[in-house]
This record gives sequence, C-alpha cells and structure tokens, in this order.
Amino acid sequence: MKFFIDSADIKEIKEAAKLGILDGVTTNPSLVSKTGRKYLDVVKEICEICPGPISAEVLSVDYDGIMKEARVWAKVANNVVVKIPLIEEGLKAVVTCSKEGIKTNVTLCFSSVQALLVAKAGGTFVSPFVGRLDDIGHEGMDGIREIKQIYSNYDYKTEILVASTRSPIHIRDAALAGADIATIPFKIFQQLVKHPLTDRGLAQFLEDAKKIPAP
Ligand code: G3P
Repeated sequence: MKFFIDSADIKEIKEAAKLGILDGVTTNPSLVSKTGRKYLDVVKEICEICPGPISAEVLSVDYDGIMKEARVWAKVANNVVVKIPLIEEGLKAVVTCSKEGIKTNVTLCFSSVQALLVAKAGGTFVSPFVGRLDDIGHEGMDGIREIKQIYSNYDYKTEILVASTRSPIHIRDAALAGADIATIPFKIFQQLVKHPLTDRGLAQFLEDAKKIPAP
C-alpha cells in the first residue's frame, strides 16, 4: 500500500519524507490557500522534495478550461498528476488526458458508480472521500470495498486513492479493503506510529538493560 501526504505545507511534507516511506503528495485548493503562496510555486517545490506522484488540482469546471490547465500542470514536472473534479466536463477531460498520456487523479468521488466512470474514462487515480461521507452519517469505507470489488471484476487499472482520511482507523480499514493508496494528513501520519504500550515497553526494556552486567 502506498502512503501519500495530503498537504501543501512544505515543512510537513519534508518531515513526512524524512520517514522514508512517503510515496506521493496530494494537494487541493483549500490546502494551498492556507499557505498564502501561489499554487504553481508550491507544486514546483513539492516536486523537488518527493519524486512520487504530486497531485495538482485544476480550477476550471468546463472541458476546455480543464484541458488548458491540465496541459500546463503536466509540463511543470514529470511527476505531476492533474487533479480533476468528478463532474461530466471533468470526465470528458480525463478521457482526453488519458489519450494524451497525462496522468489524472479524479477527485470528489462519493460513490462506487462514480468510481466506475473514472475507470472507464481511463483515470490514473480515483479519490473517494471517506471522512466527508462519515461526516454525514454514511460509512465511507463501504464505498472503498465496493470500488475494490468493481475494479477487480473488470481488471480496471485505475488506482484507488483513499482521501479525506481522518484517523489511523481509516488507514487500517483502507489497507484491509485493499486500497492502493491512502492520502494522509500530517497529524494522522504522526499518529500512525504511536502506541502507548510501545512507549511503556521501551521504557521498561531500557530500565532493565541497566541491570545487565557490562561486557
Ligand atoms: O485532498 C482531498 C481530501 O483528502 C480532503 O480531505 O479532510 O478536507 O475532507 P478533507
């Protein structure tokens, strides 16, 4: 399973990259707006930190506008993936991007049927948002299991990128469901490694080690 960080914060991305298990980065306009910087500048800098796929989102909602932005993003760096919203105009653009060899991450996916369309359109990644579904009383992870089943029924190559993750439980369940990738906020990244019994056990081992006679 691949781990992406869901962030536009350079400090966070550098910190996560230091762990040595970071496979990519996803950004969105909300995350970039928090930095106070230009989207292009942020993405260029992220591409220098992480060699894996870096998602950069288009802001247009019409086919021509989306394609214009997609072609610009695709030229920024080899590892840029164009993030396109899951709307009709977006799907048309995904088909064209696929023909032109532009990698796509189709975002704002909230149902397995939408994800089926993404695979048919030739999307590289689909981003189902689990946390936002949980927020409105649905079980976001059910959708991931459905998408996994549908994609395996037809051997679709689109990768399932679980987004809107809010807790280590989401990461565990995404892995159990066989998702290809989870994109994880920095705070959750930090939580993944922690367990109170690990800390307590280590403290005990270190204490007991003092009783071992020196060689
Ligand atoms: O990048 C898209 C996604 O991960 C958004 O997460 O927490 O805003 O629902 P959230």
